[in-house]
Amino acid sequence: MTYILGIETSCDETAAAVVLDGKTIVSNIVASQIDLHAEYGGVFPELASRAHVEAIGAVVDQAIEESGITYDQLDAIAVTRGPGLVGSLLVGINYAKGLALATGKPLLGVNHLEGHVYSLWLTEQNRTIEFPVLILIVSGGHTELVLMTGHGLYTRLGGTLDDAAGEAFDKIGRLLGLPFPGGPNIERAAQNGNAASYKFPRAKMDETYDFSFSGLKTAVMRAATVMPSAEARRQRGAEKKAQLRDGVSVGDVAASFQAALVDALVEKTTRAAKTYNVTEIMLAGGVSANQALRQALRREADLPVRYPPLNLCTDNGAMIAAAGFHRYQAGQRDEWDMEVQPMWPLTYDTYAEA
Ligand code: KG4
Ligand code: ZN
Repeated sequence: MTYILGIETSCDETAAAVVLDGKTIVSNIVASQIDLHAEYGGVFPELASRAHVEAIGAVVDQAIEESGITYDQLDAIAVTRGPGLVGSLLVGINYAKGLALATGKPLLGVNHLEGHVYSLWLTEQNRTIEFPVLILIVSGGHTELVLMTGHGLYTRLGGTLDDAAGEAFDKIGRLLGLPFPGGPNIERAAQNGNAASYKFPRAKMDETYDFSFSGLKTAVMRAATVMPSAEARRQRGAEKKAQLRDGVSVGDVAASFQAALVDALVEKTTRAAKTYNVTEIMLAGGVSANQALRQALRREADLPVRYPPLNLCTDNGAMIAAAGFHRYQAGQRDEWDMEVQPMWPLTYDTYAEA
């Protein structure tokens, strides 16, 4: 019985969880900052780190309390080391170091993307996963297509060249006047819209497994909004933001945008799945909560498609603890001077090179 405490503060959730043997969630606490950032239409880094500082002690204590075990019974403390916002990562990592020192437990730095991968191991406890599997990580900060050939063994096949999928959802949501975060709100608006209203570009981009969403974003902006003139922008107190065109249906734009983005993700993912002969396709990250994406992938892929339950799609501590479990098993132990890795990719044998 191996109990791992997982701590996550890379972006806008302060989260902690206790996980048993890398697959059973014993407790899982998430303090979301969505309300705090909603006012700004996006994550405001300084506010995020301050909110993490305020929340982390109570979140970790509550995760331990609800787990029914004591700090003493923990086997290790896993914490997100990167990628993410520097100030936010520092809060989690410093807290984890302090806790590791105070309790004498080993400290494990975990890659946030590897955490999203291991959210898939928390979903069905009694199933074995045969490698290789293909994983599409789609979140606010990342869009990565990754071939996983064993625990901790990753080959990055491609990723976004510009905006992350979730970022595109958030930007278009803002454009359409929907609340933050854009993803779930666009999905909701799209239910009352016609996805065939606009033919937005799919950005097929050649034979690579890379994605690009900037052309799509521009096309949506052109179709749905009127930009203020240079003259209007010069006027003091003038409304500088783009305005929705008269008669534009937010639902139609949302549905057409979502369909174009989902098409691009599904096309590359199903092609990679065939090429690399994987046993299954896994979706992870905040955007994997999207029902249109889940359904399209299920329809187009002739392989099992798995995704985490909704509460494990977005950032949480349980996925960090689950990834930490596999690192703990592989013998990883990190030092006290472990630093944050704000740009840490998932492109290597994490166990060998960490
Ligand atoms: O994984 P996550 O919580 O944070 C990062 O690591 O970035 O993902 C957050 C992102 C946001 O961009 C949000 O708009 C998006 O996931 N998201 C969705 C949905 N729910 C959350 N995007 C599309 N459809 C959804 N239902
Ligand atoms: Zn994430």
